[in-house]
Amino acid sequence: MENSRVKAYIKSIGAYVPSRKVSNDDLAKLVDTSDEWIYSHTGIHNRHIAADNEAASDLAYNASVSALDAAGMSPKELDLILVATMTPDYFGMPSTAALVQDRLGAINAAAMDILAACTGFIYCLETAKAFMESGSARNALVIGTEVLSRVIDWKDRNTCVLFGDGAGAAVLTDNADSPLSNIRHSILRCEGSGAGHLKLTGSGNRTPVDDAKVDHPYVYMDGQKVYKFAVKALCETVEKLLSDNKEHIDDIAYIVPHQANIRIIKAAAKRMKVPFEKFYTNMHEFANTSAASIPIALNEMNKKQLLKRGDMILTIGFGGGLTYGGNLIHW
Ligand code: UT7
Repeated sequence: MENSRVKAYIKSIGAYVPSRKVSNDDLAKLVDTSDEWIYSHTGIHNRHIAADNEAASDLAYNASVSALDAAGMSPKELDLILVATMTPDYFGMPSTAALVQDRLGAINAAAMDILAACTGFIYCLETAKAFMESGSARNALVIGTEVLSRVIDWKDRNTCVLFGDGAGAAVLTDNADSPLSNIRHSILRCEGSGAGHLKLTGSGNRTPVDDAKVDHPYVYMDGQKVYKFAVKALCETVEKLLSDNKEHIDDIAYIVPHQANIRIIKAAAKRMKVPFEKFYTNMHEFANTSAASIPIALNEMNKKQLLKRGDMILTIGFGGGLTYGGNLIHW
């Protein structure tokens, strides 16, 4: 909902992606696959994988420092830190947000994780906006961070080729001294009946790891079911964001979708009759980084000066839960 008095603005964006790059050819040495299969089925060439001593909070910290630097803001000015992750440093507690809060020295901030898988950053933006509209926060740090490489079955070619590690962060404020990007409207949805199609097997108290070949929680995905859901979720969210806000697709500069698979985006573009060029994609370099994929893309677009003040953009997420949703941002 839009509140006419208080607004939530994006003051800056930052990102951090580990330097270790793994190509499709590298993966072909691990499992029976090829660059040709992976690229033609997903649009992915490379993914970046965290160093052995890097955890989700480390990636999040680095992304946060770059966002705070760009905002010219001290961590002490933050009163809220939200972290979207499905690969926290610790499952359950402490939250990854608490670890980031401590390392930043954000001594005035509340800190918590939000779990909405690949839609996590979208959920966090709207949650921070709601805190601002209610008067509970004035400056927030919203982070998407993932070390998916630690929850992959590296012997399963169906999943191991799809994911990468990375983090992106945004500094939000309710105080726009100069023109800033305004989060105008969000749609958050969930189709929990499909929860079993995409899950971290062995990560909680529902399903112990029963596969002797894998001794840690790992991603299970029914690829085709998730693919169909993703195309539908992407189309529905774009169309609802446009109709709720009485906007036309021609007035949208970019759609920034979760970077799961280029075929999902091409199918949605075709179904909606929207030119594919309107969608920003970078999965060829980073693969699917779940909650981090949208802020990493926004940071890259910002650096390339693709985002112009006054542009209207849509960010659209979909993934585990099965969650989906989007934000209309007046950049
Ligand atoms: O972020 C969460 C959201 N995730 C998604 O949105 C992912 C959604 N799903 C997808 O993107 C696609 O379903 C996949 C990329 C995961 C798979 O593509 P697909 O065209 O649906 O392939 P498929 O699962 O139907 O598999 C076709 C064939 C199978 O072989 P058979 O049974 O026909 O002999 C697979 O074993 O391709 C085989 N295959 C591979 N071959 C080479 C699966 N993975 C690979 C691989 N290399 N890496």
